Amino acid sequence: MTEKKKILLSGMQPSGALHLGNYEGALRNWVELQNTGKYEMFNCIVDWHALTSGFESTEQLVPRIYEMAADYISAGLDPEKTAIFVQSQVKEHAELHLLLSMIIPTPWLERVPSYKEKAESLGLDSYGFLGYPLLQSADIIVYRADVVPVGKDQLPHLELTREVVRRFHYLYGDVFPEPQALVTKFQVLPGTDGKKMSKTYGNFIALGDPPDIVKKKVMSMFTDQTKIHKTDPGHPEDCPVYIYRTIYDADLPADLADKCSSGDPSVGCVGCKKALLSALIDYFADFRERREELLADKAQLDAFLESGADRARQRASETMKLVREAMHMFKPEM
Ligand code: TRP
Repeated sequence: MTEKKKILLSGMQPSGALHLGNYEGALRNWVELQNTGKYEMFNCIVDWHALTSGFESTEQLVPRIYEMAADYISAGLDPEKTAIFVQSQVKEHAELHLLLSMIIPTPWLERVPSYKEKAESLGLDSYGFLGYPLLQSADIIVYRADVVPVGKDQLPHLELTREVVRRFHYLYGDVFPEPQALVTKFQVLPGTDGKKMSKTYGNFIALGDPPDIVKKKVMSMFTDQTKIHKTDPGHPEDCPVYIYRTIYDADLPADLADKCSSGDPSVGCVGCKKALLSALIDYFADFRERREELLADKAQLDAFLESGADRARQRASETMKLVREAMHMFKPEM
């Protein structure tokens, strides 16, 4: 007998073109999880979540969704194996969020660490912003997901989700598994300036950046501030150029770190950047080609997203029937 596959739900806000930090922090892992064949995979582009802070400028939402979908598929998420879909295309997320909002005390949401921080720093106080993690809970449990691959920063949201499940079960009986976080063990990729890579800092390299842009960014990367002359000792373990090469340069010489640290004049930062540049351009060559094809053919992307949404809706509507039955709603099957 074949064992039933576990359900895996992953999600990301449509921030547009993905950068190396997004790739190392999430996407590479999703592709690996998909390719184990162990999970039934749902990947949700959470556009409603994007509105919790970005409601004033919504014009970029659709192009960002397409870019992100193209990035996912080009990086190896296979629409046949993973249902890739847009959250707002599956209305069951909204219905479940509404029902959950009735049973969850607001203090549960007010004490989520990201809430106070962001509410203050971004000046946000909308109803939807407070509900952000509850909408995330709905995203997860509407698929009766078993596992959710996330970074450490998302653990409080997963913990809340499990509390939500327990409260629902206490009130109406069991419907959902308690979803487990699958914490991605990755190194936080530094940006081109050595700080955390982020869109807002402008220190990112996008997966789809054309070679001339990659060149500009790589050649102006920070290396080691204390290594001014070739003979000064370097600190490769803290140097973003070296760190990137350990990931993307298959031909990285084994003795490079030693040579750099000892100030061996046969190696220098400019040469190192050039080597990284050609490694990066090679590494993402197929990716870029696939991405261009996809973005030039919106009909194909639409078809992928539509078939993903169909599969998502099927699972989500089964869940909602169970939820409505458990809650004794009017005509639960509709
Ligand atoms: N909050 C998540 C983040 O910032 C995005 C997200 C929304 C999500 N819904 C989700 C992640 C469901 C995993 C599962 O990264």
